[in-house]
Amino acid sequence: MVLLKGFGRDGFRFFTNYESRKGRELDANPFASVVFYWEPLHRQVRIEGSVKRLSEEESEQYFHSRPKGSQIGAVVSQQSTVIPDREYLRKKNAELEEQYRDTTVPKPAYWGGYILQPEVMEFWQGQTNRLHDRIVFRRPRDSTAPLGQMTHQGTLQHCQHGDKEHLVNPRLQYANSQGG
Ligand SMILES: Cc1cc2nc3c(=O)[nH]c(=O)nc-3n(C[C@H](O)[C@H](O)[C@H](O)COP(=O)(O)O)c2cc1C
Repeated sequence: MVLLKGFGRDGFRFFTNYESRKGRELDANPFASVVFYWEPLHRQVRIEGSVKRLSEEESEQYFHSRPKGSQIGAVVSQQSTVIPDREYLRKKNAELEEQYRDTTVPKPAYWGGYILQPEVMEFWQGQTNRLHDRIVFRRPRDSTAPLGQMTHQGTLQHCQHGDKEHLVNPRLQYANSQGG
C-alpha cells in the first residue's frame, strides 16, 4: 500500500524507495494498477496505466516538504531488505537525527516519486441485489479504430470539485459491463 500524494491531468503520484521490491518490479515492468475501495459505499475505482519516475526536482521538492522525522525515516529504511533487529533501525535513526540536527536531510538518490498515467479507469458500484455496475473508460490507442460492442465515443470529461475543475481524461471510450 502506498499513499496517493497527488493527481492531475497527467496522472497519479506516489513516492517510495526505488530500490524496494516494488521499485525494482516497476523498473522491469513499468505498468501498474491502483485500487481505491470504499467498503461502506460498495464502491471501487481501479486505474491501470504506465508508470514513470518523477523528475529529481519534483521528488526533491516533495521530500523536503515532509516532516524531518519522515525524511530521516526514508534514509534509514532500506525497504524490502532484511535487518538484524529493530535495535539496528533505532540506532541508525538516532545517529541520523544527531547528524542532521541543524542541517537539512539530503534526499537519498534511491528515493523518489512515480506517476501512473492512466490508460483504463474502471468505476465499480456494488448493488444489494448483486447485479453490480461497472463502467470502464479507456484511452483509445488508435482514435480511428472502430468502437467495440457497447462502447461509445466519450468527450472531454469534466467534473467540478469545489472551486477546482479536474479533467478526468480526454477522448476516452467507455463501456458498460457487469462486474459480478
Ligand atoms: C497506510 C500505509 C501507507 C503507506 N504508504 C507508503 C508510501 O507512501 N510509500 C512507501 O514507500 N511505502 C508506504 N507504505 C509501506 C508499504 O506498504 C510497503 O510496506 C513498503 O513500501 C515496502 O514495500 P515492498 O517491499 O513491497 O516494495 C505504506 C503502508 C501503509 C500501511
